[in-house]
Amino acid sequence: MVYLTRRYRFSAAHRLHNDALPDEENRRLYGKCDNPFGHGHNYVLDVTVAGEVDLATGMVFDLGLLDQTVQREVLERFDLTNLNQDTEEFRALVPTTENVCVAIYDLLRDKLRGGERWPTARLERVRLEETSSNFFEYNGGLAGDRTARRTL
Ligand code: NI
Repeated sequence: MVYLTRRYRFSAAHRLHNDALPDEENRRLYGKCDNPFGHGHNYVLDVTVAGEVDLATGMVFDLGLLDQTVQREVLERFDLTNLNQDTEEFRALVPTTENVCVAIYDLLRDKLRGGERWPTARLERVRLEETSSNFFEYNGGLAGDRTARRTL
């Protein structure tokens, strides 16, 4: 297996707040991130595709196809949005970077199967950097009913 990682960037605003919890608990959990007017991040997104090196091209996956897919599925959906208000994914889910990371993985997983041209290619991992001090990674390992993570 060879791993190809490509880096993308997008900016979005969010507010960390769970309507199912009392205001006091939201403030305790999320601190300043519970500010009603939200705040923004310049996210750095690393998408990793795994596969065998194709004999004909010497490549693991088509970079152009990867770019188009991430552009369409992720950047157009989330860039320059308020995640809480503008996106379907976070209407009922707190847009922590953990949850954004999982959502991006779920959006890309089926779109990055290689098909006939790249039969061994698959999405390996999504890494999402929120600030220079913290980032989150997801490899699709979350089992069970996703609705259990919903908050509203
Ligand atoms: Ni934040």
